[in-house]
Amino acid sequence: MQIIHSIAELRHALKNQSSIGFVPTMGNLHAGHIHLVELAKQHAKCTVVSIFVNPLQFGVNEDLASYPRTLEADCEKLNAIGADIVFAPDVAEMYADFDGVSLNQSMTISPPLIATELCGVSRPGHFAGVATVVLKLFNIVMPQVAVFGIKDFQQLFIIKDLVKQFNLPIEIIAGETMREASGLAMSSRNGYFSDEQKTKAAQLQQCLKHIVHDIQQGNDDFNALTQAAMQTLNNDGWQVDYITVRSALTLAPATIGDTQLVVLAAARLGSTRLIDNIDFLR
Ligand code: PAJ
Repeated sequence: MQIIHSIAELRHALKNQSSIGFVPTMGNLHAGHIHLVELAKQHAKCTVVSIFVNPLQFGVNEDLASYPRTLEADCEKLNAIGADIVFAPDVAEMYADFDGVSLNQSMTISPPLIATELCGVSRPGHFAGVATVVLKLFNIVMPQVAVFGIKDFQQLFIIKDLVKQFNLPIEIIAGETMREASGLAMSSRNGYFSDEQKTKAAQLQQCLKHIVHDIQQGNDDFNALTQAAMQTLNNDGWQVDYITVRSALTLAPATIGDTQLVVLAAARLGSTRLIDNIDFLR
């Protein structure tokens, strides 16, 4: 496995490759990321994994500085599962003329309106930062296939739209959410939790499961179901950003006629913000 830090070197290494599978990540890899790499391997001859903590997608009060950076351990995991190339650029390599303060990315992707809803409410600019770095990475790696996690349902939705609207010749593959035995979705941010918090964090997924169960039993008062779940969590020490039932096809608020649904949530436990979702049929 090659570990490459420069764009020029990566382009050189990929020059004769016509079957590239790409998994963009911010590192601190867990079984969820590894699952995506396994999927990429099934769809392409050469698997590239990027590890880049993208400053453009973090808000001013977010955890950019403390985000876990574990390149060596990440590379060991990727080597063990047979990834071909790790692309780990620094900020100056990704953002031209980076002066230590300003990213100088004066041209960015303006994402679709859905980027202002759900996570976009408490993270304005986040999806513009994600879409911009992903387009840059696509232009650098030029993969035929790229794999993203359903765990970040709204991100996956926006990336699919990016590919469609900019006519990128890239097939987007969605990977299932990998979970702890408790049901807690694996996340690099779970490392911020104490043991006690980590046990409690599984409540988020349990709440979503209850909502799915009730809807599948015929309850279609989506608003009442999500309000009750938010209240339960808020009373139990969480600060809920949102819990909402949406169409899994459009991400518009669910209507009675929708059969493909997704229930999505974002909530803080202490200072750590978690997201999760379950997509299901009714
Ligand atoms: P990161 O949070 O590192 O996630 C990288 C990929 O792993 C994303 O596609 C995400 O949906 C997926 N993922 C995260 N947790 C998962 C889990 N428990 N099971 C399965 N897949 C999971 O998402 C990003 O980085 C960044 O926004 C990025 C796309 C790299 C752009 O900077």
